[in-house]
Amino acid sequence: MTPVVLIAEELAPAAIDVLAYDFDVRHVDGTDRPALLAALAEADAVIVRSATRIDAEAVAAAPRLKVVARAGVGLDNVDVPAATARGVMVVNAPTSNIVSAAEQAIALLLSVARHTSAASAALKRGEWKRAKYTGVEVQGKTVGVVGLGRIGVLFAQRMAAFGTRLIAYDPYIQPARAAQLGVRLVGLDELLRESDFISIHLPRTPETLGLIGEKELATVKPGVRIINAARGGLVDERALADALAEGRVGGAGLDVFVTEPTTESPLFAFDNVVVTPHLGASTAEAQDKAGLSVARSVKLALQGEFVPDA
Ligand code: NAD
Ligand code: MLT
Repeated sequence: MTPVVLIAEELAPAAIDVLAYDFDVRHVDGTDRPALLAALAEADAVIVRSATRIDAEAVAAAPRLKVVARAGVGLDNVDVPAATARGVMVVNAPTSNIVSAAEQAIALLLSVARHTSAASAALKRGEWKRAKYTGVEVQGKTVGVVGLGRIGVLFAQRMAAFGTRLIAYDPYIQPARAAQLGVRLVGLDELLRESDFISIHLPRTPETLGLIGEKELATVKPGVRIINAARGGLVDERALADALAEGRVGGAGLDVFVTEPTTESPLFAFDNVVVTPHLGASTAEAQDKAGLSVARSVKLALQGEFVPDA
């Protein structure tokens, strides 16, 4: 029987071409749980992005499953221990969308600094208000990077070109590595106290969930602008809304939310909050790279070949 590759979310057409000749490629909406579980019953491989949960129940529903492929970076929607316990390989595309994600964080940061989104919406409503949307320059400001991994580094390198002073919190990075990048490693307390902008680039883990909560937001430099294009919940949404309401936080740029998809949040009420629907990886380039990378890994895995690091 031809092995079945189940595609549970949007995948670049070029990636589907890689698989279509050798495999029975099927599609399902990964957010439709009953449909997903039913389709997994015959799947040899499943390809997901961030909206489909491949947890222990999903693995158990897939007796033929040999590989779970995540067309992107974060693996927080895949229960890797449950898959591994069943002998199911998990692959991702860890560098496919890092440039796009870093660029998205910068787009949000600049938009928050210059009120781009609110001013655009106002002008389209017929309001020409220049004074109301006076912003701030980024040059000379202190930018705090939380999580100096692949995306954090790309973000920092790009922000350096704006003439910012860069500090970072990442207890797993050597100070010498940060120094090479022109970034000073500091504790979280110092980063919160000193930063004019904070950008989060962490994975979602039990340790990082709610890392920036009420207590942390009480200690920030007044007026700080916070960017999160990593994962919803790393900055506590309720605490952020309270800090915005008090003016302690001067603005936020958010690409990710605790609940996704979502079209309602108390954060949407603030003019100085710019939001996007998890678009960090949504570029033609990143989708081609992520799709092709996981399609090749799935093909090798199902053909019993060695799967090199993506
Ligand atoms: P990475 O693993 O290269 O870097 C993560 C960094 O976080 C590492 O340097 C690690 O040491 C640090 N870290 C881990 N736990 C920490 C903690 N408790 N405190 C401080 N630092 C900690 O990952 P990456 O490629 O840079 O991606 C980061 C995250 O961005 C991904 O896990 C994913 O959730 C998210 N992401 C979002 C989008 C999007 O579309 N918005 C796109 C790609 C990635
Ligand atoms: C990722 O972790 O790669 C991102 O969240 C992007 C995505 O899921 O498309």
